Amino acid sequence: MATAKNAFSTPLNDKDPYIYQVGFGNGFASEAIPNVLPVGQNTPQKNKYGLYAEGINGTSFVAPRHENQRTWLYRMRPSVSHNGFNDAPENSFLESNFSPLNPKVHVSATQQAWHPLDIPSEKVDFVQGLRTIAGNGDPTTREGLAVHVYLANTSMGNKAFVNSDGDMLILPQQGRLDIQTELGKLMVRPGELVVIQKGLKFKITLPDGPSRGYIQEIYGSRYELPELGPLGANGLANVRDFEHPVASFDIDQSDWEIVYKVSGKLFVCTQDHTPFDVVAWHGNYVPYKYAMEKFIGVGSITKDHIDPSIFCVLTAKSKTPGIPLADFLIFSPRWDVANGTFRPPYFHRNTASELMGLIYGVYEGRSDSFKPGSISYETGFCPHGVSWEEYKKASEMELVPMRVHEGTLAFMFESSMPFGITEFAMKSEKRHEHEPGMWNDLRNNFIANIEQVNQDLKAAGLPEIKP
Ligand SMILES: [Fe+2]
Repeated sequence: MATAKNAFSTPLNDKDPYIYQVGFGNGFASEAIPNVLPVGQNTPQKNKYGLYAEGINGTSFVAPRHENQRTWLYRMRPSVSHNGFNDAPENSFLESNFSPLNPKVHVSATQQAWHPLDIPSEKVDFVQGLRTIAGNGDPTTREGLAVHVYLANTSMGNKAFVNSDGDMLILPQQGRLDIQTELGKLMVRPGELVVIQKGLKFKITLPDGPSRGYIQEIYGSRYELPELGPLGANGLANVRDFEHPVASFDIDQSDWEIVYKVSGKLFVCTQDHTPFDVVAWHGNYVPYKYAMEKFIGVGSITKDHIDPSIFCVLTAKSKTPGIPLADFLIFSPRWDVANGTFRPPYFHRNTASELMGLIYGVYEGRSDSFKPGSISYETGFCPHGVSWEEYKKASEMELVPMRVHEGTLAFMFESSMPFGITEFAMKSEKRHEHEPGMWNDLRNNFIANIEQVNQDLKAAGLPEIKP
């Protein structure tokens, strides 16, 4: 079918053959065959071509209008046409309950890091290749999140996945993901993020072979754009840069498996037709992708640092008003122009727990070898900052405008709730503890300057200090 490329989305290219609709949080409508969507109603007595109307509500029926998310699907067979649920083979690397009472979850005050996890040599698809690293809360309380890595070398074939527990923010780090969803197709490359909401069926094909990436799964709220406050109406991740699929269907009467994740447990249904048979749809419960290179960064153009919340791409609320459950931040190429300022991240402790990853490039200022695919972890109020060498260099450098993070895309999953670390991650041979010795050399400049201190005290009529 001939399709016009939307002028506002990614130009057609050989890395992404699909077209998209743009926006964020708005209602979309899409037909793979013209005039299939019913006019003026959602459930007419008869749909065109005998299609079935199926509604999917991502939020409570009575959620306030600005939070209410639902989509109407017009499909060849309703989702209920399957042969019942059975237990699926377990993925023992998958964890969803991060209570400290769970013996498979560990608390750590230490800064931890992981070298990139190896993609297995045996056949493993996206679902089989999920490895949970850390998280908090539990999907049954609809509060909390999980951080996974996926390690896949096999496309899903006639198999689809439904995560009933949480929305997944997926960040490919190696290899593109060709994602077929009920609402259409998305091609997602390293440097792009994709969000697939809970309850939606999707399958992942690997056009570039073995693939690795990061996932943040949130159990309760949804991803939203952060408020812009005094920034005004534009900036950070702009609404028009989020891309949603268009309706696309298959006619396929072969056998399929649908794997469901419900409260962390896997179930499977079989059916004798494709789940990707939606001819038209409309609604606002729709997967989307975003190219992170489009992020409009802001920062200080006079002096000092703005809090890292300025690097927030997407945020998700906790149940405590005003407090995010999860902020997704990126650190990408930008200018640093602050005058009279100690420019590296200042020494700090803060309430949030942090998990960092690297999509591509080099992220400087770390003691360990932080490579694309690596992970680092810091619990709340864990002190961090640069080494003596970095401190000295930054204290003495000439403050000219300079580029930072050139060719790099690093990110942070930040949570107001503390992380538990899985047994798998704690026992991984890729784990290593951050070397606290990197700060041993931070000298006591105050004692070195005691003569000057005492001169100043004396001049002020105050007693001298004996170190
Ligand atoms: Fe920090």
